[in-house]
Amino acid sequence: MNDTAPYAATDAGSQAFQLLAQSASAFGNQTDRMFLAMLLLCGCVALALVVVIVYFSIRYRSGSKADRSNPPDGARGLEAIWTATPLLLFVCIFVWAARGYVQLYRPPDNAMTIFVVAKQWMWKLQHRNGRREINELHLPLGQPVRLVMTSQDVIHSLFLPAFRIKQDVVPGRYTSIWVTPDRTGDFRLMCSEFCGSDHAGMLGRVIVMKPAEFTRWLDAGAQEPGLAAQGFALFRQHGCSGCHDSSNGSSTVRAPDLNGLLGRSVHLQDGRTVIADDVYVRDSILLPSKDVVAGYAPVMPSFAGQLSEDDIFALIAYLRSTTERGSDVQLSQ
Ligand code: CUA
Repeated sequence: MNDTAPYAATDAGSQAFQLLAQSASAFGNQTDRMFLAMLLLCGCVALALVVVIVYFSIRYRSGSKADRSNPPDGARGLEAIWTATPLLLFVCIFVWAARGYVQLYRPPDNAMTIFVVAKQWMWKLQHRNGRREINELHLPLGQPVRLVMTSQDVIHSLFLPAFRIKQDVVPGRYTSIWVTPDRTGDFRLMCSEFCGSDHAGMLGRVIVMKPAEFTRWLDAGAQEPGLAAQGFALFRQHGCSGCHDSSNGSSTVRAPDLNGLLGRSVHLQDGRTVIADDVYVRDSILLPSKDVVAGYAPVMPSFAGQLSEDDIFALIAYLRSTTERGSDVQLSQ
């Protein structure tokens, strides 16, 4: 790879033969260990089978002088062992993999959110201070980052080989994934779901920087207003504040107060309780009758078609900022 290629990444090619770039996160290392363990296990089983097959084919070949009298007609002990051993191994692998899976879909509370919109054929990314990038994703070293993703058209899939992460990006809903990079450098970013004629060109790179360098990079591209402020403007512009803001002194509040909503559990009319997360907010905006809050009438109109995916991300960022102000967390990130 050379520097002039648009998406040259340091993990792209190296002197030694390798199928996958060297891992750049703890999760990646864990995935590699599991892959290696499964490979060794399967390799050993396959080898044992081959040895036994070859041994018996030679020993009991037609015309050999092997003793064929008195063949065994049962071996309970042996059967118990070959039943219990694989069962135990499979259960261990299941527990190991399930733990990794749960970890992959449960980001730590301090994870920084980055919004991702996929479209034919590019990746649009937006950081909390409003800084946008296309086909490039800058990340700070050692800091957990959560990617909240959606698509503007068809199904795409975000693949970050160096982090051993692949997640479908689906129109009409949010998917999310998180990672803590533990190595600086340039890594590949690609689409791994066939999404049309230029699918193969839907490439980009991930640039992992030292935290101080990252902060400088992020500040250099800060948008005025930031994402949360854009969300606040939309909140007023589309009239959300008319019903949802209890602090405006209006006596005709017919809707739940949304201050500090994100992360709170919400009781719904049909008896369910949900945690208000990005998906909940998005659904409440576009499909307001899906999750009606207990004690309120289902009077909110849908905003489908009036807000772009970027707008909804901004609204979520605004709501999240009200949560963080409540708990004295810095809004600037
Ligand atoms: Cu997007 Cu393939």
